[in-house]
Amino acid sequence: MEINKVGVIGCGLMGAGIAQVCAQSGFTTVVREVEQAALERGMGRIDAILSKDVKKGKLSEDDRAAALSRLQPTTDLSDLRDCDIIIEAIVENIDAKREVFSTLDGICPESTVFASNTSSLTIMEMAATTKRPDRFAGLHFFNPVPVMKLVEIVRAITTSDATVATLKEFTLALGKTPIETRDSTGFIVNRLLVPYLLDAVRVLESGIATREDIDLGMQLGCGHPMGPLTLLDFVGIDTTYYIANIMFEEFREPRFAPPPLLRRMVLAGHLGRKSGKGFYDYE
Ligand code: 3HC
Repeated sequence: MEINKVGVIGCGLMGAGIAQVCAQSGFTTVVREVEQAALERGMGRIDAILSKDVKKGKLSEDDRAAALSRLQPTTDLSDLRDCDIIIEAIVENIDAKREVFSTLDGICPESTVFASNTSSLTIMEMAATTKRPDRFAGLHFFNPVPVMKLVEIVRAITTSDATVATLKEFTLALGKTPIETRDSTGFIVNRLLVPYLLDAVRVLESGIATREDIDLGMQLGCGHPMGPLTLLDFVGIDTTYYIANIMFEEFREPRFAPPPLLRRMVLAGHLGRKSGKGFYDYE
C-alpha cells in the first residue's frame, strides 16, 4: 500500500517529533492536538528544532520551509479523514486511546492503517475497538524522535502481513530502522531497558554508589550515551514508574516492580528534566 499522507494524533514531545520526521521525509502530515495552545506549543518545538538545524548548517533554509509547509496543524479529528496512515501519540491512557481510534474508525476509509506509539499498553486492546484489526499495529518511536534511529513495529495477533510490510517500508522512508516484535508488554526495548533502569535506582537506594558514579560506570564502562539515572530524568520518572507498573501487572516478576524511591519521587513531583528536578537538578 502506498503512503502519501500521514496523520499524527498528539503534538507533545513524541507526537511533535514523529510529525517533524514525517514532514522532513516528504510526507504531507496532519497533526492534531485537542487544544489550540498545546498545538501551538508543539509546532513551536518543531520550528525551534528545525531552526537550530539550519543554524548548525545541518539543514538548508529551503528544506526547513518545505518541511514546515508539509505540516497541517489542526484541532479537528475529521481533518485526518484522507490520511493513509494514522499514528497515535497521545497520553498513555487506554481509555483515551480506545476512544480516539473508535472515532477515527468511523471517519477514515477502510484502507487507512492505524498505529499506536504506545510504549507499554496492549495493541490488541486498541485494535479491538475498530473494524480494522488487521490494519492495526504498534509503531514505537524513541526519544528524541529526530535523533533515535529505531522504530519497533508491533504485530498484534490480528495484524496482517501486508500491514507489517507497509509499516516497514514507511519506517525506512522515514530514515529509521524497523525491528519487529509481538504485542507483548514492553516489546523488545522496554522489556530490557526498564529492569536495567529500575536496577540502577536499587543500586542508588542501597547506598552502593553515588548517582554520579552509577552514571559514569555505565557511560564509560559500557559506552552508553547517558548513564541510567540521567536517562531516567530524560525519559521522565513518572513515565518510567507508569511503564514499570504496567509491566509488573502483566508479568508479576519482581524485576519489573518499581523501587520505593521511584514512587516517592513521583509523589514529590521530582519527575526529571521536565519538572526541573529528578535524580539531578536542572533549574
Ligand atoms: N530533538 C532533536 N535533536 C536533538 C534533540 C532533540 N530533542 N536532543 C539532541 N538532539 C541532537 C542535537 O541537536 C545534536 O545534533 P548534532 O550532533 O547534529 O549537533 C545531537 O542530537 C547530540 O546532542 P547533544 O550534543 O546536545 O547531546 P548528546 O551528545 O548528549 O546527545 C542524546 C543527546 C541524543 C539525547 C544522547 O544523549 C542519547 O542518545 N541519549 C540516550 C537517549 C535514549 O536512550 N533514548 C531512548 C529512551 S527510551 C524511549 O524513548 C522509549 C520510551 O518508551 C520510554
